[in-house]
Amino acid sequence: MIQEELKKAVSWSALDYILPGTVIGVGSGSTVAHFIYALASIKNSINGAVSSSNSSTKQLKSLGIPVLDLNEVDEVIVYVDSADEINCNLQMIKGGGAALTREKIIAAAAKKFICIVDESKKVEQLGKFPLPIEIIPMARTYITRELVKLGGLPKYRVGTITDNGNIILDVHNLHITDPVYLEKTINSLPGVVTVGLFAIHTAANIALISTTTGIKTIIK
Ligand code: A5P
Repeated sequence: MIQEELKKAVSWSALDYILPGTVIGVGSGSTVAHFIYALASIKNSINGAVSSSNSSTKQLKSLGIPVLDLNEVDEVIVYVDSADEINCNLQMIKGGGAALTREKIIAAAAKKFICIVDESKKVEQLGKFPLPIEIIPMARTYITRELVKLGGLPKYRVGTITDNGNIILDVHNLHITDPVYLEKTINSLPGVVTVGLFAIHTAANIALISTTTGIKTIIK
């Protein structure tokens, strides 16, 4: 089965976790694009979606799914998103698509994070995928120096401006043995908007992992 089919299969399986009459948190990226198509098939039974990126918003609206402001919504029971890497504790690296800040906000606000991935995203240790960090542009060289002190090799993602008007550093060479410690440490650097480690409050509650033999479910 090719990767795109695995993404599609896991996206449709996430519909089992959607409760009628609720507002759904929607992530970003190529896997979530399949999920949005799946969600459109039950759009009349949900109250709408809160979206984590301009691209997801565009797709949701084009399929007739109402997009609501998170500030106007009483509760988000389920947030569905993918990841660039996920470990056995359901801690993740996210932000490959540069939407990490709004993703983390909705993940934090939601009661449950359902992570939908194909099996290539499951890792023993986080860090092979370069860790994305959204930063305020004027802090770029300062934060770069601090990340080097932490053992990373930060690279400026040239040409990318986030939906919030900021820039991204992708940090290579990290062997993340303690994701909670690293998330806290990077969060404490002035100028960091969001680090793409989802380990402290925003690890997933449920991972649906698409394999060639079916969907594997991990519940924390
Ligand atoms: C977007 O910023 C990311 O966090 C995505 O959720 C993540 O990169 C997974 O994307 P794909 O489904 O495209 O691999």
